[in-house]
Amino acid sequence: MNVKEIIKQLTLEEKAGLCSGADFWRTKAVERLGVPQMMVSDGPHGLRKQSDEADHLGVNESIKAVCFPTGVTVASSFDKDLIRVMGETIGKECQAENLGVVLGPAMNIKRSPLCGRNFEYFSEDPYLSGTMAASQINGIQSQGVGTSIKHFVANNQEHRRMSSNSVIDERTLREIYLEGFEIAVKEAKPWTVMCSYNVLNGVYASENKRLLTEILRDEWGFDGFVVSDWGAVNDRVEGVKAGMDLEMPSSFGVNDQKIIDAVKSGALSEDDLDRTVEDILTIVDRYQSNRKPESVFDRDADHEIARKVATESMVLLKNAEVLPLSKDDKVAFIGEFAKKPRFQGGGSSHINTHKTSNAVESACKYLGLSQDEFLYASGYSVAEDSINQKLIDEAVDMAKQADKVVIFAGLPDAYESEGYDRTHMRLPESHDALIEAIAQVNEHVVVVLHNGSPVEMPWIDKVSAVLEAYLAGQSVGQATVDILYGEVNPSGRLAETFPKRLEDNPSYLFYVGEKDTVEYREGVFVGYRYYDAKNMDVLFPFGHGLSYTSFEYKDINVSTSKMSDQETMTVSVRVTNTGECKGKEVVQCYVVPPKSLDVIRSVKELKGFEKVELEVGESKTVEFTLDKRSFAYFNTTINDWYVPSGDYEIVVGKSSRDIQLSSHVAIESTVEIPMVCTANTLIGDLLQVPEKAKVLEPFMQEMEKVFQGEENDDIAAEAITKEMKEAMFRYMPLRNFISFGNGQFGHDDLDVLLKALNN
Ligand code: BGC
Repeated sequence: MNVKEIIKQLTLEEKAGLCSGADFWRTKAVERLGVPQMMVSDGPHGLRKQSDEADHLGVNESIKAVCFPTGVTVASSFDKDLIRVMGETIGKECQAENLGVVLGPAMNIKRSPLCGRNFEYFSEDPYLSGTMAASQINGIQSQGVGTSIKHFVANNQEHRRMSSNSVIDERTLREIYLEGFEIAVKEAKPWTVMCSYNVLNGVYASENKRLLTEILRDEWGFDGFVVSDWGAVNDRVEGVKAGMDLEMPSSFGVNDQKIIDAVKSGALSEDDLDRTVEDILTIVDRYQSNRKPESVFDRDADHEIARKVATESMVLLKNAEVLPLSKDDKVAFIGEFAKKPRFQGGGSSHINTHKTSNAVESACKYLGLSQDEFLYASGYSVAEDSINQKLIDEAVDMAKQADKVVIFAGLPDAYESEGYDRTHMRLPESHDALIEAIAQVNEHVVVVLHNGSPVEMPWIDKVSAVLEAYLAGQSVGQATVDILYGEVNPSGRLAETFPKRLEDNPSYLFYVGEKDTVEYREGVFVGYRYYDAKNMDVLFPFGHGLSYTSFEYKDINVSTSKMSDQETMTVSVRVTNTGECKGKEVVQCYVVPPKSLDVIRSVKELKGFEKVELEVGESKTVEFTLDKRSFAYFNTTINDWYVPSGDYEIVVGKSSRDIQLSSHVAIESTVEIPMVCTANTLIGDLLQVPEKAKVLEPFMQEMEKVFQGEENDDIAAEAITKEMKEAMFRYMPLRNFISFGNGQFGHDDLDVLLKALNN
């Protein structure tokens, strides 16, 4: 397809028409010019391809497909290769179903544990989110199918998601909320980006030129089309001007007409419209030229890939020598989730699974037992959502007969979903009560959790083990049994902090805002950045996760101890499996910036991670590359990333709170932050900049004399210490030369001084 040629031949009406969907899931065709339709589909962890009764809430049936583990689950694998494989598999499925773009990955930051859609999102950390998203995109797009990273940006709650204004300062926006998208765009070039429903700092994301054109395209080099979230368009013409290309779903011609009218009246330039059409057709062309109609959607094979992803992602949070279970243990599975697991979330990502596995059935198969021979009690009923004492009593009786008990608990569908937020961070009362009751009669209690986001665990000290299975996709039962019985050694790590209680979360006081205003007042202190800065006890820290084996770290090496902010360096460590079984370790590298009074920074930030598999006794060297961005913060004076000169610590560990080794690098900045001096500039700040200090020197000498004179007159002169004098100058604005200058320094002198200082 020669896109430019086609645009020349399109009528104004056809061009405007191409800027919105033909229906819920398809772009428009222009048959006379050979422009085909392209179908898109949710996303992100499998296909929700709908045919007739279309909707964006997962209400109506879609084709039978494979449900992979959700975003937070797969992020917990910390495994870039694994998520890439999952992406490739989804890409192949799209080819078989003739889909052009899959709507995902969803990569908003998990600002609060309460966001209803947290299960779909990766992490509280932008580096982890961006890196995992990039791998998933690379996997999907390697199959000639596009992705749509979403929701761009600052859609961190479901409450009033279509109207709320996320008010975020520039530095926080850049460092926390945009950074993951930036990594994904630069590293993986997604074909499309989905703009979010919400308003960002007063302007709807769907008509935010700064966001969609200046940052996304001009700064990051995005070259695909921007699609609106379903129904996110507010002012269509402003959207076109801002770089919002494709309106979805169809607006039945209403907004197309607005575009036509605006071009005719001159309110919208035809060049802007042509650019929009070009963005869309370029991707439609890419879709068409990458078609592989011979592809097959092998659901059973993909189920096994989903199982592998699930086992590599589950996080063993606690284990007091109770896991792995042995085939000889007399084990009881308790909790309705053991038979009816919750393995995906509600809303647009909801997949019509072709088959699912549950833990009871999978354990029976593994142990060669019939379900009648296996100890199981429901303990609660998801449908009731209240404590059922009879079910608890039955479960307690059963727990008494078992050597070990595995309780399946978590959040039922109604507790977290797209469309609304959670109101608290607790499990259902019936689940907490069941765990408490069983823990009283059995000393070997394992809790398996199915949830998309942190929960409080008031019973944590009374149970022996906790396995965070998250929402693990359709092979959840098999994957859980693989881990419980040690067929697979757990290797997931938390992609988010589990605070002890909701009130500890940094966004707690401001979440979900006031009516349509949500101020992100915690700033850059999201997740572990906050808990670390406050030195606060948490239930489980970011990056935490246990294994059935043990690992030792030694020999940290940095390629240089000194470099400029333009250079890169490598850090390496040697990791050894010192335990008794094969396993995988996630080696995490964090940068600790120097303490400074000029800029408030996090205690440490994740800048690298690698997952390595080690046989018993085996060692491997793990290497990380660090560059300017690893050390930088976003400086709003120069509107760019900036690394202040100083000594940076590089720490490597098993989690954000389990640091094993550390080293240092001294970084020299090559960037000068321009300093505009005014009458209110502090003397202390000027003295820190050598050339300014030089200009100031003669004036300082004069002032010294004046002070000297005053001191001589004053009986209390001895009380003025050197430190006091220095402090007085340090915090004194230049204008005070006039008030304290004994009449020898006037406004004219100040002007001369300022001119000299500002060159
Ligand atoms: C969701 C998107 C989804 C779209 C289409 C919207 O409500 O926010 O994530 O891709 O619907 O289903």
